[in-house]
Amino acid sequence: MDRIRIVGGRRLDGIIPISGAKNAALPLMIASLLTEQTLVLENVPRLADVALLQRILGNHGVDIMVGGKRPGETADHGQTLHISAANIVDTTAPYELVSKMRASFWVLAPLVARMGEARVSMPGGCAIGTRPVDLLIMAIARLGAAIEIDSGYVVARAPRGLKGAEIVFPKVTVGGTHTAIMAAALADGTTVIENAAREPEIVDLADCLNKMGARISGAGSRRIVIDGVAKLNGARHTVLPDRIETGTYAMAVAMAGGEILLQNTRVDLLQAPIDVLVRTGVTVTPTNRGIRVARNGGGLEPVEVTTAPFPEFPTDLQAQLMALMTRARGTSHIVETVFENRFMHVQELARLGARIQLDGEKATIEGVERLKGAPVMATDLRASVSLVIAALAAEGETLVNRVYHLDRGFERLEEKLGRCGAAIERLSG
Ligand code: EPZ
Repeated sequence: MDRIRIVGGRRLDGIIPISGAKNAALPLMIASLLTEQTLVLENVPRLADVALLQRILGNHGVDIMVGGKRPGETADHGQTLHISAANIVDTTAPYELVSKMRASFWVLAPLVARMGEARVSMPGGCAIGTRPVDLLIMAIARLGAAIEIDSGYVVARAPRGLKGAEIVFPKVTVGGTHTAIMAAALADGTTVIENAAREPEIVDLADCLNKMGARISGAGSRRIVIDGVAKLNGARHTVLPDRIETGTYAMAVAMAGGEILLQNTRVDLLQAPIDVLVRTGVTVTPTNRGIRVARNGGGLEPVEVTTAPFPEFPTDLQAQLMALMTRARGTSHIVETVFENRFMHVQELARLGARIQLDGEKATIEGVERLKGAPVMATDLRASVSLVIAALAAEGETLVNRVYHLDRGFERLEEKLGRCGAAIERLSG
């Protein structure tokens, strides 16, 4: 198993290109199941999760062609996928595949909407806590599908098609909103989603579906209205920039010191994390090429932050912020309200010398003068990258084990940081 070796203490200076968003690319790829025609997705990140979803879609009979390189194109450009679900040969998503990546459960919606039936394994728990799918199932059931749970599988049937309805989510859910949008796009009549998730990835999915001929309005607000259509077409769509990757590298610069241009990304995707970084004393400047982030010399101020659905501070940056606050000049508090128990990084940060106390959903982080390198490992991808951030400021060598977690969500991480001066390398084997 690969490991990453980091020797802390180097500044970061230069340019980091931001990839397409993993959490937009995955639902967009799944949306290809809604049409017989080809969906062309540009700026798709080269990630283990994307490759796994290619396999999962392949199992349903979807053909995916990876576009060749164009002149002048480098690895910094995302890949172009030509996805054709002309013939869906299997409407079952088996446990072996769904258990490896929760988002693959979302195939339930397009399969039942287009094929009238789907049999998808329940995903099970994961490293960031119990993650139920009751609200996703509720959304499909509201649209008229008959639901049965059979041997660990959710079986949804709507042989005469889905019907538009009102879906009121009692809790904001990204996956629930993606599911409701995809299913309602091909339903007969109008669907209204109340208390919808407002994440930029929801807007990206709706934009792409509208290009495919769907009639979706209000994405990005709490109320989404979808007038169902009988058929969707192919389209060409560019995946939006990864706001979590953007925020992660912004925190890496804040930790290591230096000045970095985060290229091909936008501040409106992560205003809340930027506001927090500014409060810590980091300089953040939007430019027409991306976002410039700098910390030259000064210390880091502690902050009080609560995670919540967009547009608030994202849970997917909670671990990274915690790593940063281990070096603040004082005590910070971070409250995690989205997932219970998403604190797997705390024990590992402690191995580097961090002082963090947990009390339910609240973490108290007492800034320390220095961190010291150590072997560490983590069980989910954002937790893993928080260890990389801490290692950038730790004295001596840190070995991050189980790098496959990083590969799920961060494209060429060691190369992007290494080019800016970090002492970081991947050790194979
Ligand atoms: C998406 O997960 C993201 N995954 C997660 O990113 C992200 O952390 C999360 O949204 C929150 O922003 C992808 O986009 C692929 P939710 P999702 O449904 O859709 C509860 C990463 O690191 N809930 O918005 O699964 C749930 O338990 C990942 O890239 C129910 O109770 O999250 C949680 O408390 C990990 N019942 C809350 O809602 C349900 O049926 C929000 O979860 C569904 C969710």
